Parts: sequence; structure tokens; C-alpha cells
Amino acid sequence: MCGIVGYVGSRPCAPILFDGLVRLEYRGYDSAGLAVIEGGQLRVPRAVGKLSNLRRLLDAEPLVGATGIGHTRWATHGRPSEQNAHPHVAGPIAVVHNGIIENHLALRRELVAQGVTFSSETDTEIVAHLVHAAVKKGTDLATALRQALARVEGAYAVAVVSRDEPDRLVVAKNASPLVLGRAEGEAFAASDIPALLSHTREMLFLEDGEMAVLRAGAIDITRIASGEKVERKPRRIDWSPMQAEKGGYKHFMLKEIHEQPRAIEDTLRGRIDREGADVVEDEIGLSAAVAAGVQRVLLLACGTSHHATIVGRYLVERLAGVPAVTELASEFRYREPVVKPGDLVVAVSQSGETADTLAALKEAKARGAHVLALVNVIDSAIARTADGRLYTHAGPEIGVASTKCFTAQLAALTLLAVYIGRRRGTLDAARASKILAALLEIPSRMRETLAVDKDTQALAKKFLDARDFLYLGRGLSFAVALEGALKLKEISYVHAEGYAAGEMKHGPIALIDNHMPVVVVMPRDSTYEKILSNLQEAKAREGRIIAIATHGDEEVRHLAGDVIEVPAVEEELTPFATIVPLQLLAYHVADMKGTDVDQPRNLAKTVTVE
Ligand code: AGP
Repeated sequence: MCGIVGYVGSRPCAPILFDGLVRLEYRGYDSAGLAVIEGGQLRVPRAVGKLSNLRRLLDAEPLVGATGIGHTRWATHGRPSEQNAHPHVAGPIAVVHNGIIENHLALRRELVAQGVTFSSETDTEIVAHLVHAAVKKGTDLATALRQALARVEGAYAVAVVSRDEPDRLVVAKNASPLVLGRAEGEAFAASDIPALLSHTREMLFLEDGEMAVLRAGAIDITRIASGEKVERKPRRIDWSPMQAEKGGYKHFMLKEIHEQPRAIEDTLRGRIDREGADVVEDEIGLSAAVAAGVQRVLLLACGTSHHATIVGRYLVERLAGVPAVTELASEFRYREPVVKPGDLVVAVSQSGETADTLAALKEAKARGAHVLALVNVIDSAIARTADGRLYTHAGPEIGVASTKCFTAQLAALTLLAVYIGRRRGTLDAARASKILAALLEIPSRMRETLAVDKDTQALAKKFLDARDFLYLGRGLSFAVALEGALKLKEISYVHAEGYAAGEMKHGPIALIDNHMPVVVVMPRDSTYEKILSNLQEAKAREGRIIAIATHGDEEVRHLAGDVIEVPAVEEELTPFATIVPLQLLAYHVADMKGTDVDQPRNLAKTVTVE
């Protein structure tokens, strides 16, 4: 989730572009750069690290050109470095891009075979070379970009300039955000509204499959494929800059709950083969040989990531037929863990910097395990320490409470389980296709599930004074119960406990009385009859039952005091649907209590101490 900006007009563009990048810093900042047309040349200052490093370059050599583009990077392909920083240049062309080009490897191979030399590891540089190849034949910049994008598959918000056409910049959009602004004698482009607010409030939002030529005070929109002209009315945006960074949501956490469909789409993008029956090896961080030889999978993580690994464990056993165990990273190293050749250790971490997980990973590696990092931050400590890397592409997660990274981890773990199962021959193509097809449908199912927001607001209000919550689940829903309880306690400070429903009769059922809300996670799956009887046991003890159930479950309606319905999905994928109402319930309870939802007390986003 990078940030791109563009400007064409009468003022020096460097300060405008830099300020725009500062406004987009929440979208990621492992490196940044500008490309400014000045005196018939392209000036391309770039710096790795925070924007302040780019600031120093601009202070040392001020730029005065009035046309340019800028980029702040959240790496997806290619580690954070100066040569991987955008803009990427080919001849007179400079390009910035936010998104993922799915067929980047095939296009790179084709261009290399034509004699093109690449200077970066990024997918973006391919666009620069494709546009350059067209303008070398005399094609104008807009047509060259149109032709280049006809070859590209995947998500992009892209802006290009050419030193040979200094009066314009050309932008295009598919599946990544891009907003345009216009003022007297000026035109602007950016990934998001905050970058434009100080210059204009009249904004034009490009749709997927559209491109635009921006000149001083003029914006011409066309369809990428057909070239057909598009008329688009500007919208007036009255948000404050901070409101804009949160996309109009009250808190980053709520924004990130609603970003989950996109985070999953981006995590899956380019990783399922064309036949839909397998996972692409290039993207999984694990060779086919190692996957075929896996004898046991050991999943290490903390907190929410640990809950994701409990789902991962079920999926690896169910889909790959491999013994799997999940361990709290903070406990793993204090045993004498037995690690054998053939063990695949998967370290799961949003930040890639959690000290307990990093320490456990090193311990497992020292004992001979092959280690895969499943992380959200490219080149993080856990990523660098592992033998291979499977990245979630959820973008920066600002809220301390993890939401979109949790479900992005579930998506990546599902891909991993299918990949191992296909290579071990324990998962046939038909079943793999069914799971992968259902997985590709999950973003749509989650969009439908987000509609329960109103119901969860009402629930939050009804149970606002409850002092203890119990969350119950079986099978995959046990992990969801744990995660739902963690969400509530970490942002609302209300005590909540996730429990395996089958364990209730072994003690905890003594807790239940008519003050106790009991959240029962009970999608229509193979454990349904059992969890239904657990619900009845809790009800018999006057528990206040809140059921998270599948659409159309009439049975539970007569038993539970409150029911939140979620769409029906494949059994292996139910956590994607059932976790959403629990995230929203926790959010609304905390918001109504007035706690600091995005930065809850005593917590840090990344726990780098043991
Ligand atoms: C979850 O909402 C918390 N922020 C916390 O439990 C977090 O999941 C845990 O600290 C692990 O962080 P990581 O995924 O970055 O390793």
C-alpha cells in the first residue's frame, strides 16, 4: 500500500509533491523519491528510510521544475533500498506505482530477452521499460502507457512523466486507489485524499480501467482499453486532513476492519495459478522440494498472530495431511523443543519484529528446522532471519489491535496449506480448486459481512456495562473465539475469555450466570450440533447468549438472545466471516466507552521486548 503523488502547473512541484508524500506517510515509508522535469532533464532524488532522508536531498539540491511525480514505498516486491525506491526510470520516462503486477516475472523475462537491463527488483520497473519501448517508436506518452497497460495484469495506480513531454503527466488506475484534483492552472494526482486537501477540495475519482492526462488546469479521462472519453463530475470533499487519513472513519482500526476485503485480495493477488487448482511457487517462499518433504509443521507466533496459527494448524492437517502444532513463541524456547529434519517452522508476525517470535525462530533454526517467515513487513527482522518469506500484502496496520493483518494471515496460511498438500500429493486438484475458488470469493463474502456493523453497534450498547464476557467456539471457531476475546479486552479493557466450548463442562461453566454475556461462534459446520448443545448448557445457566451464526439458521434464533448472521462459506474458511462481527463488537464497545481505540493503554503495536 504505497503512496503516489503527481503535479503539473505553474509552481515548483517538489515542495508540493513532498508535502503530499508526508500526508501519505501512513501508507508506508520504507523508501521515497521524486521525479521532476527540469531543463529538459529528469531529476530523480530517492532515499531509503523515512521521508526525512528524502527531505535532506531536496534541501541540498532544490528543484524548480513544475511537472513531477513522487512516491512513498511499502515494499511488496524487492526489499527496501535506494535502487528499489520509486520513481523508476527508463530513458526519458519516470514511473511511480502502487499495486501488484501479477505477471511481472513473465514480462521481466520477456524484456530481459529483448536486451533490457533492470536496475531494481521491483515489479514497477517493468512499466517504465514498456512505456519507454513505445515512446522510442515515436508514440506519445498517453498512448505508450495505454499500450503498456494492455500487457499488465494486476493492480495499479500508476503515474508517468516524460522529459520529452514536460507539460503533462499521465495516470491510470486498476484496483488501487487514485484521486485527481484540479485548481486554477494546476492539476494533481494522489493515492488518497489527504495529499490534495491543502490544494483543492474538488476531486475526481478514477474508476478501474480508466486513465487520465493531466495538464495545467486540465484533466482528460479516458477508458484504458478503448480510449473512449469519460465525463466525470468532481466531488467536493470537506474532510479535515486527519479525517482524510482515516478515510473518513473515526479510527484507523475501523478503517482497517473495512479494508479487510482489499487486504485479502492483495494477499491472494498473483498467487493462484491460471487453472485455479494450485498455488504459484514463486510467491510462496518455499521450494517444491522442501514442501514435498515436510513431515511436520510447527507454527510460532504471539497474540493475534498466534490465533491465526491455530486456524493454520487445522488447515495444514486438513488440507495437507501433515501433522501440525502451534506454539506460543514466548513459551517455545523455554522447553527443550524437539525439532527434527523435515520440520517446517512457520513464524507468523504482522510486524516481523516481535522479539519472542524472532527468538523462537532463531532457536528452531539452530535446531535444524527449515524456517518460513509469514510476515506483513518486507525485510523485517523475522523475514531476514528465515530461510524463505511468504508476505501478506495488507499494507501498514496503524491500529494497535490487529484486524486486517489477521485475516490476511489466514489467507496466506490457506495458500500455504494448499501448496504443501498439492506437493505432497495429499490434496487432489479438484479439492484444491474448490478451496481456492472459495478463497477468491472471500473478499466479497466479507464485504457482505461488514453490513452487520449496525447490529454490532446495537449489541455493544446493550452489553456496554457487562464486566466479563465468555467467547466459545469449536474447531476453527475456537481460534475465532480466542481472537474475538482478545479484541474486546485489548481495546475496551473489559475482561473477556475465549474458550474451547467442549472444555466448559470441565470447570468454566461455573462462571456463567445471568450477568455473563456468552458469545457463541457457531457457523453451520461439522461441529454445529455439538456447539448448539454447548449453547443450550450456557442458556440453562441463564447466560446471555450472543450467537454468531450462518445466514438462515432458524434453530439458533429460538435459543439465543441475540444473533448476528454471517454469510455461508466453505467450512475451512468460516473464520473470515465469523471474526468480522467480533472485531466490530469490540470496536463499538471501546468507542462507546471512550477508550483510545487506536492506541490502547499499556500496549504497543510491535512488542520488541521479551
Ligand atoms: C493483537 O491485536 C495485538 N496487537 C498483539 O497481540 C499482536 O498480535 C502481537 O503482539 C503479535 O504481533 P506481530 O503479529 O507483529 O508479531
